[in-house]
Amino acid sequence: MDHNGDNPGALDALLTEERVFRPLSRVVSNATVAAEDLARITESAKADPLAYWEEAAEELCWFRKWEQVLDDSNPPFYKWFTGAKCNIVYNALDRHIETANKNKLAVIWEGEPGDTRKLTYYELFREVNKLANGLRSLGIGKGDRVVVYMPPLPETIITLLAVAKIGAVHSSVFAGFSAKALRDRISDASAKLVVTVDGFYRNGRAVNLKSTVDEALVAEPTGCVESVIVVHRANVEAEMNDSRDIWYADLVRRESPEAVTEVMDSEDMLFLLYTSGATGKPKGVVHSHGGYMVGVHRTLNWVFDLKPTDIFWCTADVGWITGHSYVVYGPLLAGTTTVLYEGHPLYPQADRLWSIVDRYGVNILYSVPTLIRMLMRFGTQYLKHHDLSTLRLLGSVGEPINPEAWVWFHKHVGRTECPLMDTWWQTETGMFMISPMPVSLLKPGSVNKALPGIEVDVWDEQGNPVPPGKGGLLVVTKPWPSMVRTLYNDPERYKETYWSKFPGVYLAGDVARKDEDGYIWIQGRADDVLVIAGHRIGTAEVESAFVSHKAVAEAAVIGIPDKIRGEVAKAFVILNDGFDPDAGLSRELTEHVRRELGPVAVVKSIEYRETLPRTRSGKIMRRILKAEEFGEEKGDTSTLEDLDR
Ligand code: WTA
Repeated sequence: MDHNGDNPGALDALLTEERVFRPLSRVVSNATVAAEDLARITESAKADPLAYWEEAAEELCWFRKWEQVLDDSNPPFYKWFTGAKCNIVYNALDRHIETANKNKLAVIWEGEPGDTRKLTYYELFREVNKLANGLRSLGIGKGDRVVVYMPPLPETIITLLAVAKIGAVHSSVFAGFSAKALRDRISDASAKLVVTVDGFYRNGRAVNLKSTVDEALVAEPTGCVESVIVVHRANVEAEMNDSRDIWYADLVRRESPEAVTEVMDSEDMLFLLYTSGATGKPKGVVHSHGGYMVGVHRTLNWVFDLKPTDIFWCTADVGWITGHSYVVYGPLLAGTTTVLYEGHPLYPQADRLWSIVDRYGVNILYSVPTLIRMLMRFGTQYLKHHDLSTLRLLGSVGEPINPEAWVWFHKHVGRTECPLMDTWWQTETGMFMISPMPVSLLKPGSVNKALPGIEVDVWDEQGNPVPPGKGGLLVVTKPWPSMVRTLYNDPERYKETYWSKFPGVYLAGDVARKDEDGYIWIQGRADDVLVIAGHRIGTAEVESAFVSHKAVAEAAVIGIPDKIRGEVAKAFVILNDGFDPDAGLSRELTEHVRRELGPVAVVKSIEYRETLPRTRSGKIMRRILKAEEFGEEKGDTSTLEDLDR
């Protein structure tokens, strides 16, 4: 539908951000990829992307080399490194045992109560092998689907790697999801095995997870699950069903620490990860061994400029794509040390992040805007008590970061010395697609430009590139190695969702604009767009304007019908401490947004809230607010965060 009169498909950009940050000369001179190299590499990758990706693939080990880098004979079912044999776990683990990485820390884990566990590459290798043997003894093998329903524990990483090592397929389900969400995902994948825990610690409480698995399996219609492995983590009751359930410790106790790594075809499925769209049932995004490892390895190494002594902390949960790519596989492929934290980021108080950075000497901190804004609410008092001087680079992902949060993170956490990598990507892309590099000139709120080997653009509804400053649809115009291969059990939906609007071109589902310098600004999901008096405005922009007011901690905006303007904005606002909701404040905020964005940004009403509905990965679910507003069905709420947890 086109609401924009004579300017079809355009999205008006109202917020302008003028600030620019140059990297310090120290950062530039230490960067693995220097500024002049980056320009040259980007140019040559544009001319010959396959040569670029082939060179990236050569940094990893293959059991047999590929015959072809890209097979594009049956679009959109692209195949990468066809004919090659490999296993991502060989690259993430086995090969490090032959090098100086053997005795280096692979994982630093911290439980919420403060207990810790550290595993060297050699120790992780042995644990993975034991579990791989245990899985084989349960009859799990190549191609079998294994649902992993676990909080962030060392065993969670071990499980993903063991499953992949034997050629089976993991499908993680975030531990905050309900029994119904779990059941749907188990059924869709026809999983033979579920790996879970008795319970875990979150916000000072022990959360029982095993009981949720039991509930999911009682009514699971296909009866596909043969076994459930249970890790003992918390002091909670776990009822064990003798014919189905087995304790993790009992399974691995007598297994050998040596196990054969399955030789996989480059295109064999590595994992499934369900992601939800605005409508319909969750989509089972499929990734495969070869292309995924190449994309994740190259992008992590380059964007976060990994050095041999780095401690890398991505705060995402392992159950999301960010956890898969940049907590587990990326860091281990790169041979770096990855940090994993079990619990709530504000437990026992708001300095938990800073305390972890301080105690382990974290060098790179990669997080999400919602958490950054949450921490901003506490001011800088908690930061002052910790030494954050080890930090060298910061990162953000998951939603547009509003410039205020960007500048706060950069200034107070990064001492204005650490470049902030705002990485744009998706479950479907598997890896970073649009992002600065450490040598880049940064504009707060912009995700910068496409990485080398990636071609993106912003198009109008007709498929024409939009002029600078105008909004449009974000597209990826060339295939990339770690791209989604299909939607599990639903190739038609895969074609329809991503490839039908512009044949041969990947539709990301986001709206964005490019500025005069070619920098990309993400404005939100295409279905999160307001149309006020014919102007398309990203909800994220209006929210960002709200949050730039000192009284506002968080804001979510939806469109409500209006006789005159077609649609106007309604805002749901969480206030900072010390501000009281009253009519005066509402008037002030409405005025403030109008000043920031112009008169087109008409805010009809403001509702004050203590919390906002979010997905467990932190994205605001405007769909739920809309349904509440209009008294409609809320649809699929399986991804909704359960705030009691
Ligand atoms: C949004 C998370 C703005 C975007 C890796 C995308 C972002 C969706 C950014 C994918 C960013 C991700 N700036 N928006 N840096 N990164 N997004 O599948 O709307 O959980 O389409 O993958 O998050 O979310 P997903």
